[in-house]
Amino acid sequence: MDTNRITDIGTKGVRAFSEADSEAALRDVEIRFLGRKSELTGMLRGLRDLSPEEKRTVGPLVQGVRSSLAEAFATARDRVAREGRDWEAERIDVTVPGADDPLGHLHPITSMTGEISDIFLRLGFEIAEGPELETEFYNFDALNVPADHPARDMQDTFWIESDGLDARYLLRTHTSPVQVRYMETHTPPFRIVAPGRVFRNESTDATHEHTFHQFESLVVGETGDVTVGHFKHLAETFFAEFFGHKVGVRLRPSYFPFVEPGFEFDISCVFCDGKGCPSCKGIGWIEVGGAGMVEQKVFEAAGYPRGKYQGFAWGFGLERLAMMKHRIPDARLFMSGDLRFIRQF
Ligand code: PHE
Repeated sequence: MDTNRITDIGTKGVRAFSEADSEAALRDVEIRFLGRKSELTGMLRGLRDLSPEEKRTVGPLVQGVRSSLAEAFATARDRVAREGRDWEAERIDVTVPGADDPLGHLHPITSMTGEISDIFLRLGFEIAEGPELETEFYNFDALNVPADHPARDMQDTFWIESDGLDARYLLRTHTSPVQVRYMETHTPPFRIVAPGRVFRNESTDATHEHTFHQFESLVVGETGDVTVGHFKHLAETFFAEFFGHKVGVRLRPSYFPFVEPGFEFDISCVFCDGKGCPSCKGIGWIEVGGAGMVEQKVFEAAGYPRGKYQGFAWGFGLERLAMMKHRIPDARLFMSGDLRFIRQF
């Protein structure tokens, strides 16, 4: 075997590998110098026909050339792979802001319920709750609204098919039934607040929604301990906290069967500070709820002896207050599920 030829193959091969500038060119060089039909592979195969003496000198030479070609191939392959990449296309701009990962948040009704509950908790109140699916007894009878009384028509009721049930069921029209439920299991003195969803079977408009939320508050003590004056002070304290500034509160005589005397109460218009504007129809006051001294018949329905206790109850609509605080023009927005509205809170 021609040793010069062997070293010549080595020199030419190493150069050819170093000059290959594409994957295709590299493959050609590989086949030519390292392939099964290449001259070098033929030589390796021919080693077995040599005399032991020749084998000892030529063998290591052929093997050495082969391994340096293999090494040159590996180096060239790395180089071609590197050069072949489109660095421009692979460029990464590490200064681009990360993708936004949107987070949900509480519905404004939920967060405002928490906000209002917190004010009452700070004033020493306890939170009470009752079911949305109520019985006629708690929603009406126990609150001194007899079956044939016209006051029942004041609240358009969603009645539930109750055939074969233990009672007539309805969707509660107000949170007042929680008063009775709470008193059945508690003894005065106490002060509670009951937030909750209520339902009225009536047509909707910008200020009326069939499903809305109320806060019911009940403060009861021994007779003589709790007065209308306490209520007025509580209402003033609560609204000042809620709106972040002093708000006027006034009571107007009104009728609710479960209180006597009963009131509707207004707060001074938060838009014009009581001067009169379109929001308060020029009156300077806005009605926000009902209140009054608990009718003794309600105490009796809850199992209290007549005359032993005295207290006041009041209720107001959450949406009404929220609309004033955040200048929301339409009560139907709360339940609309419109994210453009909800995302603003
Ligand atoms: N429950 C009454 C309503 O929904 C409001 C009210 C509560 C009035 C407590 C008096 C006392 O209209």
